[in-house]
Amino acid sequence: MRLILLGPPGAGKGTQAVVLSEILMIPHISTGDIFRANIKGGTPLGLLAKSYIDAGKLVPDDVTVDIVGSRLKEDDCDNGFIMDGFPRTIPQAELFDRMLEERGEKIDAVINIDADDSVIIRRLSGRRMCHCGRTYHVENSPPKVEGICDACGGKLFIRDDDREETIRERLRTYHEQTSPLIDYYRKKGIILNFDGTKPIEVTTREILESLKK
Ligand code: AP5
Repeated sequence: MRLILLGPPGAGKGTQAVVLSEILMIPHISTGDIFRANIKGGTPLGLLAKSYIDAGKLVPDDVTVDIVGSRLKEDDCDNGFIMDGFPRTIPQAELFDRMLEERGEKIDAVINIDADDSVIIRRLSGRRMCHCGRTYHVENSPPKVEGICDACGGKLFIRDDDREETIRERLRTYHEQTSPLIDYYRKKGIILNFDGTKPIEVTTREILESLKK
């Protein structure tokens, strides 16, 4: 199955992607995680990406599309994938369509998770991340031991772009550049809409039920 997770920052894309990836047994590909791994490793891509991410802006389309193209060539993508945070602009979506067409593939569904800006600001200020990809929230989904990942025992950290003024800029970027994708995929008849303010498990269940249909 080939899926895209769409939605504003903090809507719960990463949270749902980790669970869906385990259940559906397809890889979770997050462009944000790829950029953060490069920032951590101090690579030239990381240096470039950091300047955009810290400002709440999008990394340029050509750079982002190239990264996804390389990742898709890996064997684990042959039976499907969950794209988390890509595409994020109309040009990215058009290039992605072309890339998939060349591979003889197409997107089965776009999972659009929505939440109001006020919910997002509250959520992202309480988010805690682990380098293994798990995401926690100090109130909504805390780890069993404070500051430690339940899954791998790693030390949790706060993302640099989860400061309130950067969150507001990320939301502006989302409304301007990413939300037009909802219409783009609606016209293709492949969008499924979900309320990201429901409990995490409820949203997961609703997504799985919709995918079965
Ligand atoms: P990226 O890492 O993709 O960030 P994002 O889209 O801003 O999304 P987030 O990871 O912040 O939120 P999420 O929806 O995954 O929510 P989460 O599950 O963590 O991208 C970072 C940056 O990289 C971008 O700003 C951009 O600069 C660059 N970039 C990435 N892709 C790009 C692209 N394609 N093109 C150009 N640039 C790109 O949940 C958030 C919090 O809420 C957590 O604490 C979680 O525990 C909690 N939570 C989740 N669901 C619920 C729920 N139902 N109820 C209560 N709490 C919940």
